[in-house]
Amino acid sequence: MADTAITVEEVRKRYGDTQALDGLDLTVARGTVHGVLGPNGAGKTTLVRILSTLLRPDSGRVEVAGHDVVRQAREVRLRIGLLGQHAALDEELGGRQNLELFGRLHHLGARHARVRADELLERFDLTATGRKPVRAFSGGMRRRLDLAASLIGNRDGTDPEVLFLDEPTTGLDPRGRAEVWSAVRSLVGGGTTVVLTTQYLEEADQLADRISVVDRGRVIADGTVDELKALTGGDRIDVVLRDAGLLGAALALLPLPAADVTVDPDRRLLSAPVTDRMAALSAVVRALEEAGVEAEDVALRRPTLDEVFLHLTGHDDRTKETV
Ligand SMILES: Nc1ncnc2c1ncn2[C@@H]1O[C@H](COP(=O)(O)OP(=O)(O)O)[C@@H](O)[C@H]1O
Ligand SMILES: [Mg+2]
Repeated sequence: MADTAITVEEVRKRYGDTQALDGLDLTVARGTVHGVLGPNGAGKTTLVRILSTLLRPDSGRVEVAGHDVVRQAREVRLRIGLLGQHAALDEELGGRQNLELFGRLHHLGARHARVRADELLERFDLTATGRKPVRAFSGGMRRRLDLAASLIGNRDGTDPEVLFLDEPTTGLDPRGRAEVWSAVRSLVGGGTTVVLTTQYLEEADQLADRISVVDRGRVIADGTVDELKALTGGDRIDVVLRDAGLLGAALALLPLPAADVTVDPDRRLLSAPVTDRMAALSAVVRALEEAGVEAEDVALRRPTLDEVFLHLTGHDDRTKETV
């Protein structure tokens, strides 16, 4: 189908005893951003490596940009870009030199490589870095340069049809993260289909049209962000009391579904899903006032990945290790 950029059917991949992908299915519409959301070890990188022809699946069917990743790997490679978890930049060279080098490696002529490098520097707001060596870049600058480098692969110097971003903001501070988000958004306008893996619900929320939640090598839910959040019961209200000793009393008096309230004594916190945000907020504030229970904070928020996960899987086995 011309409207489909990626089809993954029943893909399995095993490393020794580890079933990294266990019958994974995925369909990505052309020109959209698709988020693959899951904890460490879920199989995200394995999926990206298969989609980008770096790894063969044990079984199943995978098509990218109209070509089979195993039988037509060359055709696929001509049409894709990949931003891996670690990119191969030369630390001593500046941004422009790195991009020109990448362009030459990908068989662009010298002049063409220079033009494309300048265009990408401009596009990702890196022109001002001049000759500054990459080792002196901030995390956000470096990641934007990685992104530019991942786009240079196409022989004709145009954007790839499909771009894979494997955890593009892991390890960045909030500012770097915001810079990368805006760079990704600028890509999508050009018609490129983007597959983005992430551990952050907020990131998928910011960037993705649709999301597949992956756990233990399978898709356990997919849909738009709002659809996924609705599955978990929508938004939540957090109530932080001044006095942890009043948590029990507050639980009894607040107009919240008692069975769904979670209590965290260390943070003096009650948290519960809400359906009507504003009604819940004002009812909670009023009930606290009437009972004379002092709150330090009352806030509405969207569920976290942990909560979405817990709800979808019934287990919370996110490993907290950092990559
Ligand atoms: N080269 C490998 N050899 C053995 N096990 C691996 C290898 N790569 C990944 N795994 C295992 O496969 C599972 C999925 O890993 P990965 O695709 O890297 O997940 P994610 O990117 O979501 O963190 C994990 O249990 C991981 O330990
Ligand atoms: Mg990974």
